[in-house]
Order: sequence, then structure tokens, then C-alpha cells
Amino acid sequence: MCGIVGYVGSKKASEILIDGLKRLEYRGYDSCGLATITDGSLKVVKSINRIESLENDANHLEGCIGIGHTRWATHGEVSIENAHPHVSQDGKFAVVHNGIIENYTELKKMLLEKGFTFYSETDSEVIPNLISLYYEGNLLKAVKRATDDLIGSYALGIMCVEQPDVLVATKNNSPLVVGKGEGENFIASDFGAILKYTNDFAILEDREFAVISKDEVSFYTKGLESAFYSFIKLDTNVDDMEKSGFAHYMLKEIHEEPNTVQKIIKEYLHSSKGSMKFQIEKHDIKKVEHLYIVACGTAMHAGLYAKCLFEKLARIPVTVEVASEFRYQNPILRKEDMVIFISQSGETADTLASLALVKDKNIPFISIVNVKESTMDRLSDNVLYTKAGTEVAVASTKAYIAQTTLLALLAIYFATIKKSYDEDELKTLVEEIEMLPSKLERILDNEEKAIPYAQMLLQDQSIYYVGRGMDYYLALEAALKLKEISYIHAEAMPFGELKHGTIALIEKGTDVVVFANSPALWEKTLSNIKEVEARGARVFIVTTMRDLQDVENYDILVLPEVHELLAPILAIVPLQLLSYHIACMKNLDVDKPRNLAKSVTVE
Ligand code: F6R
Repeated sequence: MCGIVGYVGSKKASEILIDGLKRLEYRGYDSCGLATITDGSLKVVKSINRIESLENDANHLEGCIGIGHTRWATHGEVSIENAHPHVSQDGKFAVVHNGIIENYTELKKMLLEKGFTFYSETDSEVIPNLISLYYEGNLLKAVKRATDDLIGSYALGIMCVEQPDVLVATKNNSPLVVGKGEGENFIASDFGAILKYTNDFAILEDREFAVISKDEVSFYTKGLESAFYSFIKLDTNVDDMEKSGFAHYMLKEIHEEPNTVQKIIKEYLHSSKGSMKFQIEKHDIKKVEHLYIVACGTAMHAGLYAKCLFEKLARIPVTVEVASEFRYQNPILRKEDMVIFISQSGETADTLASLALVKDKNIPFISIVNVKESTMDRLSDNVLYTKAGTEVAVASTKAYIAQTTLLALLAIYFATIKKSYDEDELKTLVEEIEMLPSKLERILDNEEKAIPYAQMLLQDQSIYYVGRGMDYYLALEAALKLKEISYIHAEAMPFGELKHGTIALIEKGTDVVVFANSPALWEKTLSNIKEVEARGARVFIVTTMRDLQDVENYDILVLPEVHELLAPILAIVPLQLLSYHIACMKNLDVDKPRNLAKSVTVE
């Protein structure tokens, strides 16, 4: 989604802003821009293409203070006029805005009545004009009065030509951090934008303000009282933001999966004792009668995988909810329930709103988060980190592997506490988890096996991904990966359900990818295969099982053998690779697929 970076210091601001914007690219955007103050006037450059296209014009901008933005269109098409920064009608104020102003229509009407004119279709353009309306020589006070009028979410970076040495920043329900350097200071919507320059961060609270000059950073409360903020250091690795020789971040991140699983094992498992290091009160676990898992997209698919494990091992009924639905459902939550939130970014608006709802009702919850110091991390008392490192590619890969591995360990932990499953079986499962990294390595060593399959599927308009039991949830994630980066339609179905309607679409040459990892369900799966084959489907089987009978007619990819409850953690990997190679063959922008954003910070 949108990204913000701001700089004040003694270096050329435009260079730092361009660098910061490039580091925000992965979040997804469709236009970009930046502004600096030079010789007492605002200079603005914008582009509806990639950041590189901005570089030339930006290079001509002098000035040691500036704000930059990547826009992901919400109000108004992708155009130069709608791109940020937005400038007030009097040319004095420049603003970059992340979020959505819900009452902008009324505010715009009021401003129009007062004689203001507008050049864009955005909600954001009201903000510099409101600040201009209220400005009486003090930028901070004008920003405060303007934001008092705003309903909605925002993170703002603001400059004024009459105060050319300061940036003002504020936020509400949209993240913004302040970075402190030596003789230079920064603002950003994402640590990664400025991590190269500083590792001293303050995280701005809702409706509070930061005033930033070259040598000073001051914070203010909602009422403009002086506020104390402590600065923190991150243990994020700047190398995570590099491609390290891989053609794309997505490929690099898939190759990091064995190490990702290893890190989870190290973090949560006492190897020698076979016990786990989760710090969740045993009596809290014992009293859980119903689990809700709430998340979006890939994280929600990890939740569906976990449902199978918690139900089978811990014998706890689990409801998995898409966060955008959960938040408006008035969910029936009782004290005996527990909620698990899952998010890579920790900034997904719908997941955060669901968390706020659960917190408000005082229902116990656990958050599974990848990004430390994200909003979700800071709102949660019980956080389990997925430790996958920065995931830059928009399509989530290593984070899913981390989420599913962590959830598998957590389900085993719940089962151990509840004594709901055979102890030796649980031990075997833990041992199998410890073997996952080497099995993942083996799959990655055979990466080229994905290429002929990619060639075969490349021209498809639509592909079916099917499976029974937990293989259906795996199919959902595999289909999502294909859709988002290769733009081929993929539909995931529970295999047994196909004949209740969708089979009408199967005809000669339709490609059907079958996940088959459950020995108990194999006979049924084979019958379903015969049904689609009889209608002309071309069948591809992905399996961790050995010696399957009666499969000579089909293309079959046999993966390393693994406990069937862990199969999805392995079996998704060749499908991630398949999607990746199809997207490459189609010459698509693998890391930044169209219309998508890395963290979805608006509803
Ligand atoms: C798909 C993908 C998205 C995210 C979803 C939730 O590859 O990345 O579906 O999984 O937007 O994001 P987080 O996990 O950051 O809450």
C-alpha cells in the first residue's frame, strides 16, 4: 500500500527520498512523488511509473528537507494529479498521506465554499488546504486543528515553506516511525525505508505529533503537551532487503525456507528435551473450549492448516475467519474461547480491527507476527514471532512456511498440555518437524523440475487445484500464489465437492492439479481423479506418498516422505516455484504484481 519517507538534514534530500522510496516499492504502488523546499519554495516531482522514472527529475531538486510517497490508488485513478505530495492551493504546504479520510467530501465542500480550488480527485488533497486554512504562523498548531477535523486513517508527513527547517508528522490507525540520526532525522511509514541510515526509532502514537528538524526531534500529545518517547533499536537485518544474487526477492525468499523453519525450531523447541518454549499459561490452554483463528490471505490459509492440527491433536473445535468478515460479524465470543491472529506484516487493517474487537471484549488471544514492533506486535501481550526476516516479495512464501511450522508446534504444545493425543505420536511429529529443513532443501535442490510443468501450464486461462482434507487448504494457498503473480485464474476445490457443480467446467485439456498426501483418503481421491479424467482433464498429482497404484496416466511429482500432518509445509514449495517460473516465463513483475500491496493497511 502507500508508503511515506521524509528527511531533514544537510544532505541532498531528493537522493535519500529516492532511496527510501525504492525500499518501499515492495509494498505495492502505482504512482510516486516527492517534494523538497529550495530557496523558499516547494518543488514537486511525480510519476505514474516506477521510482526510477522519477530519479532524473528528482536529481534536479536541491534542498535538504523533503517528503516522498508511493501511492496505491484508492480515491481517484492513477494519474499525476492524484499522486502525492499534495500541495495547498496557496503553494505553502506539501503533504504526503497514507490512509483514507472518510469525511473528505464534507471537508472539501466546506473548503470549496471558502474559495479553495482542487486539482485532484483524492481525499488527501483536503489536508494541505485545511492546514492552510488554519495556519497562523505555527505549523504544528495548524496541523493539530486540521487533523481534529479528519475522520479516518492517516499517516502524514507535512512541510511548510514558511518553516523550511521542520517536518511535522502525525498519524491515526496507520503506522509512522521517526528515525533519529546524527545531524539528520527521518520519518517513514515502514522501518525498512530508512534502516540504512539509522537504527534508532520512535513509533508515533495515534493522534500525537512529531516535529523534526536537522538536530532535534520533539513529540507532542493530542493536546500539544510535550510528550516523552523512547527510541528503540531493531534486530532487522539490512541484507534482508537485498536480493543476494537471486533474480527476484520471491525466489530468494523461497530459498530461505529451510533456514526459516530451522529458526522456528531453535526458537520454540528444546531439542534435547523435546519440549517447547511457549510462554502461554497452562491453565489458559486447558480451559480453551473453542479457538478462533483470524487472518487474511495467505496468513488465513496458514490458519486453515492449523485448524486441522488443533482439531485432530488438541481436540479443540476451531473456526477460521477472514478478518474482513469477522470484524463486522458481531462474533459470539465467550470467556472460554481463545483467538489466534496471524499476520506477516502486523499492519493488516482488517486483522488489526478484529484484534481491537477481541481485546475490547477481554477474550484471551495470541498474535503470530513476523514484523517486530509492528502495530499488531505492540497491541498484543502474547506474541509469537515467526522470525522469517523481512519478506519483500509481495507474494508471501517464507512467511507461510514459518506460520505453518509455528502453528504445528503450537498445536502439538496444546495437545501435550491437554493430554489429548498419544504422547509417542506427538514426539514423532516433533522429530519429523526437526527433519523438515533438510527435506525442504531436497525440494529446492530439484527446483528445475518445476520448469517443464510451468511450460505445460503457461498458456492456461484457468487451472483447478484440488485436494481432500487438509490438502484442500493447501490447494487454496497454491491457487492464490498462482493467481497473484502469474495472473492465471486458479480455483481451489475440495475434490469431493467438484461433482456438485463445478465439474461442468471440466472438459478436454482442463488442467487439474491434485494434492494427495493422505493415505486414508487416497482411494477417494483416486475416484475423483477418474471422474475428471473421464471428462478429458489433464491431471497432475503432487504427493508425499510412495508407491501409489494406478497413476501411470498422470504427471506425478513425488516429494520427500513426511508425516501426513506436515505434508502441506513441504508440498506448497514446488507450487510456489511453479507460480514463480510461470510468472517469469510470462515476463511479469514477479515481486510487485499488479494491483497488489505487501501490507494492506486500508479496509
Ligand atoms: C499473498 C499475501 C496476502 C497476505 C495478506 C495478509 O501472497 O501475501 O494474501 O497474506 O494480505 O497479510 P499479513 O500476513 O501481512 O496480515
